[in-house]
Amino acid sequence: MPAASSFSAFQAPSGTRDVLPPESGQWELLMATFARIAHGANYGLILTPIFEDFGLFHRGIGVATDVVGKEMYELTDKGGRHLALRPEVTASVVRAFVQHRPTLPWKVFYCGPNFRYERPQAGRYRQFYQVGLEALGPDDPVLDVEIIELAWDYFAALGLTRLDLRINSLGDDQCRPAYREMLRAYLAERRSRLCPEHQERLDDNPLRVLDCKKEPCREVVTGAPVQLDTLCGACAQHFGLVRDGLTRAGVAFRVDPRLVRGLDYYTRTTFEISALALNSAQDAIGGGGRYDTLVESLGGPPTPGMGFSSGLERTLLACGAEGIDLDSQGPVPLDVFVVDVAGGSDGADVTRQLRRAGLRADQAFGSRSLKGQFKAADRSGAPLAVVIGPDEVAAGTIGLRRMRTGAGDERQVSVARVDVVARIVEELAQSNTEPVKADEKTMRQ
Ligand code: HAM
Repeated sequence: MPAASSFSAFQAPSGTRDVLPPESGQWELLMATFARIAHGANYGLILTPIFEDFGLFHRGIGVATDVVGKEMYELTDKGGRHLALRPEVTASVVRAFVQHRPTLPWKVFYCGPNFRYERPQAGRYRQFYQVGLEALGPDDPVLDVEIIELAWDYFAALGLTRLDLRINSLGDDQCRPAYREMLRAYLAERRSRLCPEHQERLDDNPLRVLDCKKEPCREVVTGAPVQLDTLCGACAQHFGLVRDGLTRAGVAFRVDPRLVRGLDYYTRTTFEISALALNSAQDAIGGGGRYDTLVESLGGPPTPGMGFSSGLERTLLACGAEGIDLDSQGPVPLDVFVVDVAGGSDGADVTRQLRRAGLRADQAFGSRSLKGQFKAADRSGAPLAVVIGPDEVAAGTIGLRRMRTGAGDERQVSVARVDVVARIVEELAQSNTEPVKADEKTMRQ
């Protein structure tokens, strides 16, 4: 039997991390901000499993991509099913659409963990969180603009300003085969200069070479033909309308004909938003695009789609790099801490009374000393403390004390217990710390 102390040696697996309070308050803020923006445009929350049939990702995202070919967490369950932890959410959303056939247009948003077996480094994790949205139904470029604009609004709402939005069009089934052939011929002529993997796999999917991070491929790709120059009339018109729409919306973008995405399902519009403050290879804080053939390839009726996802960890790094103070916008702090040295149930009763009145209240546990409880009250950040001792219990009162007014400040007033809620609300109003009713949002916006 191992010594008890060796149990504490367990650590979060490589490439994953724990998010504890108060940092988790920043995560809450990001999720609440994203939900507010998504709701504002009529997107409803969707929750899908974090594991799916392996074949969903294999077929939906593409076996030639790194995400599926190299980074998937595959597992076989006790029933012998071949499953995978999801590396992203779009394929799951489309699977859910095909399974449930909701009415169109279908607009959903999500937040949750994803898994990719990548080399862990700053801003790159094996478990990472995304917020995202997907809209199925319209092939209208107005939808492309809506989604890019919502992504932009989300980052702007967080206070991010140093952003680089790049857009591109990858064409469709009409124009992509000819481009693919042109690219294949160009790359085949330079096969010996490509990385060993792509020398071998070039013929399967030449488009994947465009996304290769290795130096030899990157050099060859610099001079390669770009899809944007070979778009068919319909794709060119669609892309023109997207650019016009973004300009009208006041969203600053640049066209990057060399923008390729790491997933195979894209058609037409693709985009990526990088944080200039991050100054690293992991500077993409969000990306997305159209996937007009994905629903069909997963067994549904022909249904266009478009979406966007953003990594929470990277967005937080970007906010930090821009010096944005998310803590002051996060979950509201406590209103009051209850210190109880009477030894009975009065402390718990008053705490309950305060919480039921919509105040944010906490209490000490385990009959700690007065000094210990005041330390806890101080640490809680609450501006007020309710103090209950035997005298207060006998008199039907409580002591009310302002915290953090300076060392040695002992001002404590006696308040009748029946008046405690009204008096605290009054005190909070005076100190400009607005009390929040239980049914109000707990985030400051
Ligand atoms: P993606 O570009 O693979 O697209 O990921 C979107 C975002 O997730 C990235 O911009 C980045 O912020 C974050 N991310 C990706 N991998 C990692 C990682 N290993 N560690 C930390 N953050 C990461 C998608 O996932 C598509 N589903 C986007 C989409 C939605 N397209 C259409 N709809």
